[in-house]
Amino acid sequence: MDHFSYKNRVLHCEEIPVAALAEKHGTPLFVYSRATLLHHLRQIQQAFIEVEPLICFSIKTNGNLHLVRFMVEHGAGCDVTSGGELYRALKAGCNGGKIVFAGVGKTDAEIRTALENDILLFNVESEGELMAIAEVAKAMGKAANVALRVNPDLPPKTHIKTDTSVKGVKFGLDIDTVQEFALKVAGHPHVKVVGLHMHLGSPILSAEPYRQGVEKALILIDKLRGQGHRMDSLNMGGGFGIHYRKQEALPASAFAEVIVPGVKKAGCKLILEPGRFIVGNAGVLVSRVIYTKDSGGKHFVIQDAAMNDLIRPTLYDSFHRIWPVAPAATMPAPPADYEADIPGTVKCDVVGPVCESGDFLAKNRALPPLKRGDLLATFSAGAYGMAMSSNYNGRVRAAEVMVDGSDAKLIRRRETYEDLVRPEVEV
Ligand code: LLP
Repeated sequence: MDHFSYKNRVLHCEEIPVAALAEKHGTPLFVYSRATLLHHLRQIQQAFIEVEPLICFSIKTNGNLHLVRFMVEHGAGCDVTSGGELYRALKAGCNGGKIVFAGVGKTDAEIRTALENDILLFNVESEGELMAIAEVAKAMGKAANVALRVNPDLPPKTHIKTDTSVKGVKFGLDIDTVQEFALKVAGHPHVKVVGLHMHLGSPILSAEPYRQGVEKALILIDKLRGQGHRMDSLNMGGGFGIHYRKQEALPASAFAEVIVPGVKKAGCKLILEPGRFIVGNAGVLVSRVIYTKDSGGKHFVIQDAAMNDLIRPTLYDSFHRIWPVAPAATMPAPPADYEADIPGTVKCDVVGPVCESGDFLAKNRALPPLKRGDLLATFSAGAYGMAMSSNYNGRVRAAEVMVDGSDAKLIRRRETYEDLVRPEVEV
């Protein structure tokens, strides 16, 4: 469920017509719904309430300070994956005790900052990393709490570029050798193995991988406790899928059904790191048609959002629903099925101004006839949209607006050309 809806044939975010936001702030523009963010966070909190989980919002999905602060104010901790994300989490007011730090390449400097801020856990991904954490902690006279991030070697479950729990990817410790590894650090004065971590991949549209993951985790927790490790927490990562096409995603309760019993059995604190589930459908990308053209037997809609604003279609061939912000009276608002052949529509490629053939938001998509100046909404753009944006082709990053009922706040201004060159040094 989200709070984007067509009222009198005009797209609204909560109470505000999206066209008014585009008029005021320009395009391309990310528009977020505060009510949707909260609704999705609450769904996860409710589904897992029985085991009182720590929900660490995965800020790689959308690290806007205002948005992260909103999550923190509503009970979330943060999942970070770099010093930069740690900086954001702390700046957004997140207590170090609610921050977990994943990633295969943590530097000594990042480890030090994390220890200075007494983060809850490092999710450790290699022996080298564990030793580095131990050394930094020793130099600081501290003991670091770590969770072993394990690659559970499950069957493929999502896109090859985002599946993190199949054999042969860079993530996690090999499940076959993790016990030998853990034995080496039992009783270590500067690293305490206190938990297990697993992030299965993203986005996942079935509960089955979580069932299998938890099953493997329980066996391991038992064995690691046998070696003297505390194993207080089980972190099942993020990965809960969302509706990109229609109603294909599961409710949070479906994941809770397979995770909660295992957590109770293990007597662990549950940690989750959802990102997309919370923010994905809480954001749309609004763009304006610049030109249309026909070439090589194809119809192109050239609009002002590009792969530098939303790279998911280019990178993963991802499907995002797209529809005019104010469709003509003869058109549905919105269509029941965005992939159907809707009478009166035209098959087109929705492309941006970037100089790459891979710069598109949709291919071969049935859309109402469009003309210069029309506004389009690309839905489900709240996660991994702005977060993966770039300045490629000298394009400034889009602005971001947060809507709360009939109020809208600019939470990131559009970049300027001056911003583009600011870090460069004149020599
Ligand atoms: N925890 C860890 C350790 C992760 O690596 C990730 C995502 C998450 C949590 C959050 O997963 P989520 O709940 O958002 O599914 N750029 C890709 C997705 C990459 C996911 C990276 N890791 C996309 O746009 O689909």
